[in-house]
Amino acid sequence: MKNYENVIIFDHPLIRHKIAILRDEKTSMKEFRELVEEITTLMTYESLKDGVPTTEIEVKTPLETCTQTIVADNSIVIVPILRAGLGMVNGVHVLFPSAKVGHIGMYRNEETLQPETYYCKLPHGIEDKLVVIVDPMLATGGSACDAIQLLKNKGCKHIKFMAIIGAPEGVSKVAEAHPDVGIYVSTLDRCLNEHGYILPGLGDAGDRLFGTK
Ligand code: PRP
Ligand code: URA
Repeated sequence: MKNYENVIIFDHPLIRHKIAILRDEKTSMKEFRELVEEITTLMTYESLKDGVPTTEIEVKTPLETCTQTIVADNSIVIVPILRAGLGMVNGVHVLFPSAKVGHIGMYRNEETLQPETYYCKLPHGIEDKLVVIVDPMLATGGSACDAIQLLKNKGCKHIKFMAIIGAPEGVSKVAEAHPDVGIYVSTLDRCLNEHGYILPGLGDAGDRLFGTK
């Protein structure tokens, strides 16, 4: 895959370790859910090091008063793409407990692989926040592109997208369609199969998170 300025692929031994267990077909639903959350927290720490609104406060230590920078309250909105994105919400909330959550419901048409939007509920004032879209799988990139466009149409200007596993074709598609959006992917896999599944991947993330197969 080409190098894109707006794409960060994580290459961290701890994340690689957790993804190895996540992929394993023998990993239980409970462990899968916990791993998705843990990986998301690790990704959040790095992905949100830039762009998070901050504010200055005065802190009185036992010795003197100093000015300190803290994360501005209510400054980010987490937007999971349903269903599988729901599994990542707590992983961001651990670090940003005051973040509001918007939901975008999308499923891929199994034949055309085109995303269909079936639900959208976003917090009031989202256009002024840093919006972090989460979805474990970035396959053809159709869902990510449509979700980003939907949020831009609502006036959002600061958007980041986090996925755990990306396929090169999908990551390129999103990077080119939305060069102003930071795309953070834990690992880049080889390719898509004829059904639009990521190889080696982990199978269907929604089914593995919620036990629907
Ligand atoms: C999966 C995944 C993404 C989408 C990625 O959702 O969670 O939203 O596919 O594929 P794309 O990059 O080719 O658009 P799915 O449609 O399986 O819905 P689900 O989360 O409800 O299972
Ligand atoms: N959605 C998934 O859940 N898995 C894939 O491999 C591709 C899309």
